[in-house]
Amino acid sequence: MSRQSWKPGNMLYPVPAVLITAADKQGNANVFTVAWTGTVCSDPPMVSISVRPERYSHQMIEETGEFVINLTTRNLTYAVDYCGVKSGRDTDKFKDMNLSTLPADIVKAPLIKESPVNIECCVKQTLRLGTHDMYVAEVVAVHADETYMDEKGRFLFENADPIAYSHGSYFTLGEKLGTFGYSVKKR
Ligand SMILES: Cc1cc2nc3c(=O)[nH]c(=O)nc-3n(C[C@H](O)[C@H](O)[C@H](O)COP(=O)(O)O)c2cc1C
Repeated sequence: MSRQSWKPGNMLYPVPAVLITAADKQGNANVFTVAWTGTVCSDPPMVSISVRPERYSHQMIEETGEFVINLTTRNLTYAVDYCGVKSGRDTDKFKDMNLSTLPADIVKAPLIKESPVNIECCVKQTLRLGTHDMYVAEVVAVHADETYMDEKGRFLFENADPIAYSHGSYFTLGEKLGTFGYSVKKR
């Protein structure tokens, strides 16, 4: 079998699909879905999200320089899709999807209670790349749902049933194949 050469495009999959919450200066909040997100630095802890300027949430992030990354699970998949195809300009997506909110510690944007992990972020740099503006942001607070902690306080994220997004579809993670460094561990 030969290998096809494709025109340049976004083929890096799977990726997370997260719910981003943002708010304007008056405190009006919105939620939308982002797959173009990543960890970009360990210390200081930094992440990025890439957002098209036409998104309603874009103007909120521009205004406040803040957002929250809410990690997603099997139970949130329907909301992830809905919040990624409907605009907060036209409807209240929190209400439509029965998403409860909690106040964040530092930023104006709310946390989504149904999400197992909420990551509060403050924008440090904005890169106007083309179709998307990339916000490089510092993590200023993290919240984790104790439901997924064992008696030793270890956070067992796999118990929350996290999801990934790959080539247009949503998936759960499936089977655990190894842990960090297992390839060189002495038996
Ligand atoms: C799985 C998925 C991933 C998405 N990823 C992004 C993204 O990374 N950046 C972006 O700007 N829009 C992305 N979108 C589209 C926005 O979430 C969508 O346009 C949304 O309606 C914007 O909401 P808003 O107008 O309320 O801000 C994605 C949508 C889906 C369904």
